[in-house]
Amino acid sequence: MKILVTGGAGFIGSAVVRLAVARGHAVVNLDCLTYAACLENVKSVSDNALYAFEQADIRDRASLDRIFAQHAPDAVMHLAAESHVDRSIDGPAAFIDTNVAGTFNLLEAARAWWSAQGKPADFRFHHISTDEVFGSLGASGLFTEDTPYDPRSPYSASKAASDHLVRAWGETYGLPVVLTNCSNNYGPYHFPEKLIPVVILNALAGKPIPVYGAGENVRDWLYVEDHAEALLLVLTRGAVGRSYNIGGGNERRNIDLVRSICAILDAKRPKATPYADQIRFVTDRPGHDARYAIDARRIRDELGWRASVSVEEGLNRTVQWYLDNADWWQPLQARAGVGDRLGTRA
Ligand SMILES: NC(=O)c1ccc[n+]([C@@H]2O[C@H](COP(=O)([O-])OP(=O)(O)OC[C@H]3O[C@@H](n4cnc5c(N)ncnc54)[C@H](O)[C@@H]3O)[C@@H](O)[C@H]2O)c1
Repeated sequence: MKILVTGGAGFIGSAVVRLAVARGHAVVNLDCLTYAACLENVKSVSDNALYAFEQADIRDRASLDRIFAQHAPDAVMHLAAESHVDRSIDGPAAFIDTNVAGTFNLLEAARAWWSAQGKPADFRFHHISTDEVFGSLGASGLFTEDTPYDPRSPYSASKAASDHLVRAWGETYGLPVVLTNCSNNYGPYHFPEKLIPVVILNALAGKPIPVYGAGENVRDWLYVEDHAEALLLVLTRGAVGRSYNIGGGNERRNIDLVRSICAILDAKRPKATPYADQIRFVTDRPGHDARYAIDARRIRDELGWRASVSVEEGLNRTVQWYLDNADWWQPLQARAGVGDRLGTRA
């Protein structure tokens, strides 16, 4: 299969690109290379005959039309997005432009290409989305595919809007769409502005480790390579028009997650005082969702997927990866906004 992956120079997109090439799929990686992109992430496949790269913006319809015509993909996996909640609080416009208008543009380009090919039934447009569209849970309960949308940040609202567009293009035009809504990912190549890399890198630098609010917010953590496996499974075996929730069943309070990372560092890179001494509670994110948790029964029962990496194992691997790959993350720390406290509405 030839897959057009958007956002393939980002964190999750690059895991999808690496896995798809390893599985023998041809991949066209379409990415405009924002601050969050890093072509190092796909270096291991960049010389592979199955891999091609197109630097293009999903907001640029002419480029999309050219890329569809030139590469003739069998499927689109759409991951390109502005993805950082804190940045969406400071600058929501980019999130509406890329996540909403860009997705619209990509849907229209895909629809034009698919129509010109005689509307093949085995074409797929796979939209990769987030559990954040469902809003915030209390102490109990899980998000199912039928949970009403209730996004509460500019980021999650833009992803909810793009999910609605994708469903509408499926219903109205018959474009063969599938959707996935996934919980928080972590693992190698996670951009150094997100929680887990911030904790590891601040700990190693001897800097304060910031924890928002009281650290009580709960997230369901999934190792990124498990997510990539689930995505390829949904692409190839998911039912048209259906959405699948993906989660690791690994709920952790932020403060417990941070303490676990500190304990792993204490063992791997011991120093005179425990890394947890560097933890500092800082002003909470405005509108910080309390808890996300996924009911992943549909993808498990219908497609046979389940997470294979426990959060303990995944955190161990991730910490080791950052210890071994300073050449990857050090240059990224110089990019605009990285290391700054963002999203305080100040
Ligand atoms: N990170 C998570 O925990 C998580 C969880 C569930 C869903 N998702 C979704 O998965 C997708 C990927 O997330 P990620 O964490 O890898 O994001 P990321 O920020 O690491 O990567 C996004 C990539 O998209 C590219 N991009 C951004 N705007 C673009 C545009 N206008 N045109 C072309 N390329 C553009 C960037 O250059 C970057 O390479 C996103 O759609 C996100 O909403 C993320």
